[in-house]
Amino acid sequence: MGKDTTASPSATVICCGQVVIDHTFRVDEIDPPPSKTTARAYHLGVGGMGAHAAIAVVRLGGRALFWGRVGDDEAGAAACEALAEEGVDVTHLRRIEGAKTALSAVIVDKHGERAIVTYRGSGLGTDPAWLPLDQMGQAGAILVDPRWPEGVHHVLDAARAQGVPTVIDAEKSEARILHDLVPRVDHAIFAMTGLSVFAGGAPPLRGLRQALDSGVTKLVAVTRGENSTLWMRPGDEKAHEMPAFPVAATNTTGAGDVFHGAYALAIAEGQEIEAALRFASAAGALRARDGQTPDRAMVEALIAGG
Ligand SMILES: Nc1ncnc2c1ncn2[C@@H]1O[C@H](COP(=O)(O)OP(=O)(O)OP(=O)(O)O)[C@@H](O)[C@H]1O
Ligand SMILES: [Mg+2]
Repeated sequence: MGKDTTASPSATVICCGQVVIDHTFRVDEIDPPPSKTTARAYHLGVGGMGAHAAIAVVRLGGRALFWGRVGDDEAGAAACEALAEEGVDVTHLRRIEGAKTALSAVIVDKHGERAIVTYRGSGLGTDPAWLPLDQMGQAGAILVDPRWPEGVHHVLDAARAQGVPTVIDAEKSEARILHDLVPRVDHAIFAMTGLSVFAGGAPPLRGLRQALDSGVTKLVAVTRGENSTLWMRPGDEKAHEMPAFPVAATNTTGAGDVFHGAYALAIAEGQEIEAALRFASAAGALRARDGQTPDRAMVEALIAGG
């Protein structure tokens, strides 16, 4: 009716989990303590796995909603503002009265390697009852991380009941949290340390098998920085490898977050698992190369060999 019906609506990803204000310091070397180091540059920005992934979804052409909590402090206001500026829907990023927002100090050396100290905030509460689970149907995928386990548990159960695909960024956290959340998802993509915690120190291939046996329905994988991502589906005899794109890394911070955002978007768009992993690897590699989240054209050019 006079409306352009040729443009398909953007795929939507709901990201639920961590939002942090990152204070990033660039240094030449990260000296072991005791030490005093002068930073060459400083930047304040919004991070946290889920929030960072939400930004990646938007940059890559999707629509992202972020569900989570911040305090009613300055950092909380900065986080809401920065995410909204990036185009992320923050209607359900709750500002909790009297709470303190999570903060990180990120120290990045000249090789792009980093040391991170994170304060998880305080008074943010755990009650997930306010989450708008009835709005889940608009999402093509839901991406969660383990930093708000009560909320994420609730979201994953509702998503399974409603048939919405789910992805977890299974980063390092307490084993009991990973054991609770991982079996509830369709796609579990671990960081190396997360998989080791989940599998009680077992080698990666055994860890992946254990994750599949726990109830993950579609994919288990582990990202390994500049090395290939190992992945398996239920019924696979052996693990497959998705090679990393070779790039000169300048800052690997957030490569994993961007990888997961890109993967969730690809799933929301209906891409097959292998294509989604390739898309995510290209996005993660560009993030590591540039220290910035790439846009869709950059990712597609890298995949095409550009
Ligand atoms: N140096 C790199 N070169 C090429 N690709 C990279 C590089 N670092 C990261 N990537 C891409 O990003 C993905 C995620 O990176 P990584 O495994 O380091 O995540 P992580 O350990 O969760 O770290 P974080 O979440 O803190 O960024 C990798 O699987 C890879 O595809
Ligand atoms: Mg990570």
